[in-house]
Amino acid sequence: MTTEINSANLKTAVIKEMEGFVRDQLHLLTPIEKCWQPRDLLPSLEPQNWREALEKFRESSGGVSDEVLAALVGNMITEEALPSYQSWLNRLSGIGGHGGTSDSPWALWTRGWTAEENRHGDVLKIYLYLSGKVDMRSVEVTTQYLIRNGFDPLTDNDPYEGLVYTSVQERATAIAHTNTAQLARSCSDPALENMCRQIARDETRHERAYKLFFKKVLELDPSGALSAFENMMKKKVVMPGQTMEDGRHDLFAQHVLICQRLKIYTTRDYAKVIQHLIHFWEIPHLTNLSSEGRKSQENLCALPDRYLRRAERMEQMIAKQPRTPCPWLFDRLG
Ligand SMILES: [Fe+2]
Ligand SMILES: [Fe+2]
Repeated sequence: MTTEINSANLKTAVIKEMEGFVRDQLHLLTPIEKCWQPRDLLPSLEPQNWREALEKFRESSGGVSDEVLAALVGNMITEEALPSYQSWLNRLSGIGGHGGTSDSPWALWTRGWTAEENRHGDVLKIYLYLSGKVDMRSVEVTTQYLIRNGFDPLTDNDPYEGLVYTSVQERATAIAHTNTAQLARSCSDPALENMCRQIARDETRHERAYKLFFKKVLELDPSGALSAFENMMKKKVVMPGQTMEDGRHDLFAQHVLICQRLKIYTTRDYAKVIQHLIHFWEIPHLTNLSSEGRKSQENLCALPDRYLRRAERMEQMIAKQPRTPCPWLFDRLG
């Protein structure tokens, strides 16, 4: 118990010590005046010829397949559950707990990140609404369920584990939005392609910041950081939309399957994300570790190969799964 308390105190102290470093990384948030807004990426309804603009937009979106639309809905709903993610960040020891308008670097980062992320769900939702191809009520009900059901990435309030989780997730979403952009391109919808690419760019900036934050933790408390990384891997990094449902169906399982099938985000991608992080954080080369730290280092370095082998088995299983009716598409096949 005492060891746990000491370790928690040390972690909070490290997070506090990182404030100057975090302030130096705030440039990884884009100044608001330079940020894209959903209005920049969608047809304008103000001019006299709005009907033409809308028709042109719908002609392009009309070519997007139902399967891609279903994946896009799932991605959008996941983005829309942002209140859950911000609440979770604010529970992490040292990272959260500041005043509502505090200018502590962690608070500035968290609010700035949230404000940028808020545009992702917004732009995708308006796109889907204007396309006229999805059951928006069903989509909105699912969003409400997801926020009400909550989000538990199993990090408790541990800030180290929180930074591992965000590093994995931001890279995962960057991959997912980039692959969706590629699919939009093959469906000849340039507006959707551009939207997904812009979102992916934001995610990549966020990924960069979270990876640097955790790299700093590794520098200040290498053994503690390695143990947190290993713990997160043992618990598995759950996807943020895990409690997605519409009161009748578990829609998360369907969403995962669609993303795997379309290769938007796969088990193989997850393995590669972990491989990338181990490389970026130079895990195999860390020195001055406690015996526990060395054990975590060894276990972590063995993970990517194990995950890649698992990915092969998963791909074979997914190929056998049938497509099922999707409530977001008026029960057309998702
Ligand atoms: Fe996002
Ligand atoms: Fe993100």
